Amino acid sequence: MNPNPSTAASVPTLDVRNLVIEATVGDVRIRLVDDISFQIEAGGTLAIVGESGCGKSMTALSLMRILPEPAVRIGSGQITLEGEDLAGASESRMCEVRNRIISMIFQDPMASLNPVHTVGQQIVEAIRSHRDVPARQARAEAIELLRSVHLPDPEKRIDYYPHRLSGGMCQRIMIAMALASRPRVLIADEPTTALDTTVQAQVMALLKTAQRDTGTAVVLITHN
Ligand SMILES: Nc1ncnc2c1ncn2[C@@H]1O[C@H](COP(=O)(O)OP(=O)(O)OP(=O)(O)O)[C@@H](O)[C@H]1O
Ligand SMILES: [Mg+2]
Repeated sequence: MNPNPSTAASVPTLDVRNLVIEATVGDVRIRLVDDISFQIEAGGTLAIVGESGCGKSMTALSLMRILPEPAVRIGSGQITLEGEDLAGASESRMCEVRNRIISMIFQDPMASLNPVHTVGQQIVEAIRSHRDVPARQARAEAIELLRSVHLPDPEKRIDYYPHRLSGGMCQRIMIAMALASRPRVLIADEPTTALDTTVQAQVMALLKTAQRDTGTAVVLITHN
């Protein structure tokens, strides 16, 4: 028992303060993101809304420390995950964080699935990087995840390579993969843009359920 629950509750899952993201173009340094701050609690949702080019994706990439450095980098500010400083964390620690704590649904699903591995291999790896489950069980869970994101014929498509699937299907697979590791923070960068409106609604409902079941904090990026 925590004798003082208000203390525990006062540490947000993710706390971003005065974040500045800079790009260097030639000799000129420009601010792509100029001093943003936000906090998100376990199980909470934060929407980052803004017009195209305003720096939403760069903000998302900075949280996982995967900005296209050195052209784009964090200029200043703090990123704190459950009390731990991420802006200054080592690369090896960030690898753990990316595998187990924060996961991201990228805006471009085709570019973020590995073309040389089947869908199943990628989801199974995501499951097993987080939990010690036998391969056979991980595969069964992967099929269930694919079913939950409404991928038609998941038993068959789990053995496909990404190039055989449409953009919308790849998007759903990305979502399944992001949920597979049961992250504490899920960053979803316009996760439903490639999908038709019915599936968009289904996917948002799915994210909500996953969030309720696991207490995942969701950072949702959207332009509308
Ligand atoms: N390598 C780079 N060097 C310099 N500027 C860059 C680089 N990559 C992106 N930018 C600029 O950073 C700005 C923010 O880009 P970002 O992708 O974060 O926008 P966004 O808000 O996600 O837009 P969208 O809604 O279209 O996805 C843009 O103006 C873009 O031109
Ligand atoms: Mg973007």
